[in-house]
Amino acid sequence: MGTRLPSVRELQQRYQVSPLTVQHVVRDLAAKGLVTVRPGSGTFVAAAPPRGPRPADLAWQHAALGGRTPQDMTRHLALLEAPHPDTIRMSGGYLDDSLIPEKALVASMTRAMRRTGVWGRAPVEGTAAARQWFARQSGGFDPAEVLITSGGQIALSIAIRALTRPGDAIVLETPTYPGYTAIARGHGLDIHPVPTDRDGLRTDLLEDVLRARVARLVVVQPLYANPTGGVLAPDRRRELLDLARRHGVFVLEDDYARDLSIGGAQPPTLASQDQHGHVVYVRSITKPVAPAVRLAALAARGPALARLRAAKTLEDFYVSGPLQEAAVDFLSSPAWQRHRRTVSRELGLRRDGLLAALRSRLPGVEVAHVPAGGMHLWARLPEGYDDADVAARALAAGVMVSAGSTWFTAEPEGAYLRLTYGETPVAQLVEGARRLASVL
Ligand SMILES: Cc1ncc(COP(=O)(O)O)c(C=O)c1O
Repeated sequence: MGTRLPSVRELQQRYQVSPLTVQHVVRDLAAKGLVTVRPGSGTFVAAAPPRGPRPADLAWQHAALGGRTPQDMTRHLALLEAPHPDTIRMSGGYLDDSLIPEKALVASMTRAMRRTGVWGRAPVEGTAAARQWFARQSGGFDPAEVLITSGGQIALSIAIRALTRPGDAIVLETPTYPGYTAIARGHGLDIHPVPTDRDGLRTDLLEDVLRARVARLVVVQPLYANPTGGVLAPDRRRELLDLARRHGVFVLEDDYARDLSIGGAQPPTLASQDQHGHVVYVRSITKPVAPAVRLAALAARGPALARLRAAKTLEDFYVSGPLQEAAVDFLSSPAWQRHRRTVSRELGLRRDGLLAALRSRLPGVEVAHVPAGGMHLWARLPEGYDDADVAARALAAGVMVSAGSTWFTAEPEGAYLRLTYGETPVAQLVEGARRLASVL
């Protein structure tokens, strides 16, 4: 302890490595608390950190925490797990590293970090430039109606909790993203599932639910829904907004996949068709830009906006200024348009590659709807298979897929797998299909 380390030059000569390598190692040891760097004096072996005895019995925590475990949260968290490096990943929700526009992001971040005032406190609602960008994208909101958040998940959580009270009814699509189910359960909401098909939410069935119950909020994914890839049809959009107006409910539009289009015309946002402030809009850029760029917008009008703003400050005061600046710099540059084209092309190749592999190796697995965007295929297993069992056996065989039952908010209407193509290059998807076939 306290011993001085040899100089960088000495270490470099002794171990025949570059000065950069020595600096990396020293930085690493310092981060681990093993050495202390004293500018001008050198690097010294650090004192052992004081560490009290670790308590052996943590059982008291069960009594303190009480009985209710948010079990949906654990299933939801499983989506963020990193599998073994040899496992092929066909479950998840972010693009892989090969699709990160690293050079352009580094350039944007470098410019952002040098801007005057960027290291100070950012506005609670988000920077003016970020709010303007998301407002334009939403097609229905003014910048003053937009709040910037650290990613889509927290925006959804703020919206669902701020617009409902524990015990209220909430309408969720079935199947749908389990993130909503976890938030709703955690907030003590009564979930009313309404089925979807390739044309999105079955508004004919929503009418009955709204007539029979007092719901405050309907959560929808009108574009390339996760997991089915469905797109809400024009007549159903009109019907949904009409129902929202007649029954006085909010509609939470999770526009999570607008920048993950593979081809074809995209319908406008639901928000752009809303006249009376029913639509609350969420748009995240984490998926299309990079997993490290945790940035999203939450937009609403009237008293709902005031509630959301108040709720947001309970969770998080403001999003880091350099991140907002860098994101807007990137999103306003030609690099973003180029990147969108690359993502679109690559998603198309991956979707088609996986579909072809499934058709040749797993003819009994049915993909009824080929999505025009998003990252997933919703695949029905042949009769007699159990999705959770197949997913577990697939993982043991080296391919990670998602069991479809997690996506249903009501009883599953069959055994499905959600097969993610967005996170894996084609060659690996083909190998993944082969491994899945060996299990089936
Ligand atoms: C439909 C949907 N909405 C929202 C999210 C949240 O994503 P993020 O917090 O990265 O924006 C996800 C993530 O998988 C998703 O699938």
